[in-house]
Amino acid sequence: MAFLADALSRVKPSATIAVSQKARELKAKGRDVIGLGAGEPDFDTPDNIKQAAIDAINRGETKYTPVAGIPELREAIVKKFKRENALDYTAAQTIVGTGGKQILFNAFMATMNPGDEVVIPTPYWVSYPEMVSLCGGTPVFVATTQENKFKLKAEDLEKAITPKTKWFIFNSPSNPSGAAYSHDELKALTDVLMRHPHVWVLTDDMYEHLTYGDFKFATPVEVEPGLYDRTLTMNGVSKAYAMTGWRIGYAAGPLNLIKAMDMIQGQQTSGACSIAQWAAVEALNGTQDFIPENKKIFEGRRDLIVSMLNQAKGIECPSPEGAFYVYPSCKGLIGKTAPSGKVIETDEDFVSELLEAEGVAVVHGSAFGLGPNFRISYATSEAQLEEAGKRIQRFCAACK
Ligand SMILES: Cc1ncc(COP(=O)(O)O)c(C=O)c1O
Repeated sequence: MAFLADALSRVKPSATIAVSQKARELKAKGRDVIGLGAGEPDFDTPDNIKQAAIDAINRGETKYTPVAGIPELREAIVKKFKRENALDYTAAQTIVGTGGKQILFNAFMATMNPGDEVVIPTPYWVSYPEMVSLCGGTPVFVATTQENKFKLKAEDLEKAITPKTKWFIFNSPSNPSGAAYSHDELKALTDVLMRHPHVWVLTDDMYEHLTYGDFKFATPVEVEPGLYDRTLTMNGVSKAYAMTGWRIGYAAGPLNLIKAMDMIQGQQTSGACSIAQWAAVEALNGTQDFIPENKKIFEGRRDLIVSMLNQAKGIECPSPEGAFYVYPSCKGLIGKTAPSGKVIETDEDFVSELLEAEGVAVVHGSAFGLGPNFRISYATSEAQLEEAGKRIQRFCAACK
């Protein structure tokens, strides 16, 4: 009898965590490494949010909370959806989890049966297919193209849907490509979904507040209210409020699904950290002034890194609408010989040679299901980005 579960053979470790780990190890050995692998803002959590947590501790808010979250946070979530997305939910239709990750996991856990399919556009956030597989479902990938700015075409979505499709995962702005769908682009997809009433929509709106220029964020139910009864709208405080370590994510959706997720969470972690929940109340209800300030900083960094990458020989980098990632192609380097003498055959070779030669840590695109590309997180200082850009240019020029 095997000791470890068969389910483990269906999952891969997170490539993004592995890259951060490798960069840390090289740094510990004294190498000068610029890590562009991390998926978190480099800003500190705003002071008003920290203070709300300190106040919560001092008030003794240190006990177990209701599984689906403290009423104050669920009310703040209701208000957030109304204020920012024009969506109407009751508090009972919301749930708070230990990060957006737990929300997603519990949604799959609550709904997956063997044979169920989940449509996932590529490139995708690394955890989607792994979570689906762990919960016994089957990921069905639909490729996007760089020419279409990594956005899914309606006809490709239509083709991927079968009678077994249970969920369609939508993520805009996207990790890893930064692509974000305008209202009209999204409408083309929701029109397809309206023709397939058995398909549920899981929209991961984690990067909602990180869009640039005059781009206007849109979420599926806002674009197509007809999807209300079969959409789980997920969001969280991690990215917009620089609160990745606090571990608070949330969602709103149909009551039967929320109740099922609540039941699973009740036998698992129960309520999220009480102190972090109070901090999240302040994040959602308090001042939002730092969001435009942070956006401006991110936008400047995006423009800098896109311009530097497009000056590197063999690299092509579109300028995405949101998140803090770019997803350049390294197709022009495939088949070339790196300074070490190794021939670059894949995007994985490209990123490992780049790390070896120049100490720049990025994540290979094949980890996100679409290559030959790589992901750069520009959630780091302009000085670091500029230096990384120079090193990438030097590396590409040295590949013959
Ligand atoms: C697209 C996407 N969804 C969800 C998450 C998970 O967020 P959280 O830190 O709240 O678990 C991340 C984090 O990297 C993400 O990039």
